[in-house]
Amino acid sequence: MNRLAGKVAIVTGASPNIGGTLAAGLAAEGARVLCADLDPDVAKASAARIEEAGGEAVAMSGDVTDPAHAEEVVARAVETWGRVDILVNNAVFFQQQGLMDMPYDDYRRQLDVILGGSFLFSRAAAAVMIEAGTAGSIINVLSTAAWQGQPGNIGYTTGKSGLINFTRSTAMDLARYGVRVNSFTPTATMPTDPEARAQLEELLSRPGTRSMDFKAQLPLNRLPTPEDYVGAVVYLASDEASMVTGTNITVDGGATAKYWPWRPHDS
Ligand SMILES: NC(=O)c1ccc[n+]([C@@H]2O[C@H](COP(=O)([O-])OP(=O)(O)OC[C@H]3O[C@@H](n4cnc5c(N)ncnc54)[C@H](O)[C@@H]3O)[C@@H](O)[C@H]2O)c1
Repeated sequence: MNRLAGKVAIVTGASPNIGGTLAAGLAAEGARVLCADLDPDVAKASAARIEEAGGEAVAMSGDVTDPAHAEEVVARAVETWGRVDILVNNAVFFQQQGLMDMPYDDYRRQLDVILGGSFLFSRAAAAVMIEAGTAGSIINVLSTAAWQGQPGNIGYTTGKSGLINFTRSTAMDLARYGVRVNSFTPTATMPTDPEARAQLEELLSRPGTRSMDFKAQLPLNRLPTPEDYVGAVVYLASDEASMVTGTNITVDGGATAKYWPWRPHDS
């Protein structure tokens, strides 16, 4: 299909899980995609996945918290394809620690990757969109953990909830230029890759120090996969969403809508 024909996208944190799947999904709709990641092999594999499917992609590695890297990625997209239409701020690292056990430097680093990286990439991409008069679309990847209090994940949840208002405020900053900014909220995700899937299944079955019941608490009857997210992100990236800005689309199987004491699969 060609809902994004002629458009150029940048996806940060293009791992085989969510970022790489979103990158491939954008490419399947006709976008040319720059896949960026801290790990050069991950970026290359993501670009290769798109090319193998008949799309156009470029890989770049670097740290989203490096202002020069953000500028270089955007410049490379312009040099290669002449424009930037779509940015997906997706890069993250997970470090599940809470207020009482997370080292302060790690907390600051996690906030920097989530919030600093989104700032730097949004600014660099928006500058090019504004200069070219492009009706661009910036999409910030959140998490259901952005909307609820999760124990033992203080850097991640704080950074992701910061992105809620970063989205609204940047949407206001950029509205006059016709550049849209929205967020997309996924939840605990079942990877497509069988090995990663088996690892997660094992992790979910392990008794944890903080009791989490991902499967039984979800109103729909399975965890979403990365493929379940593609439609929402393609929509936000496309001209079909040309009047949608400063808001959020959630794909979470009903998790955040649920009345908290209800056990959806008990009866
Ligand atoms: N996996 C889930 O269950 C889940 C749930 C809710 C939300 N999310 C969100 O979805 C997005 C993707 O998650 P995922 O599970 O695919 O993550 P992942 O760990 O598979 O991929 C994240 C990628 O970001 C890269 N990265 C980390 N630090 C970086 C940096 N400083 N600069 C550049 N790249 C960096 C990593 O190398 C990695 O390839 C994230 O924003 C995450 O918060 C994931």
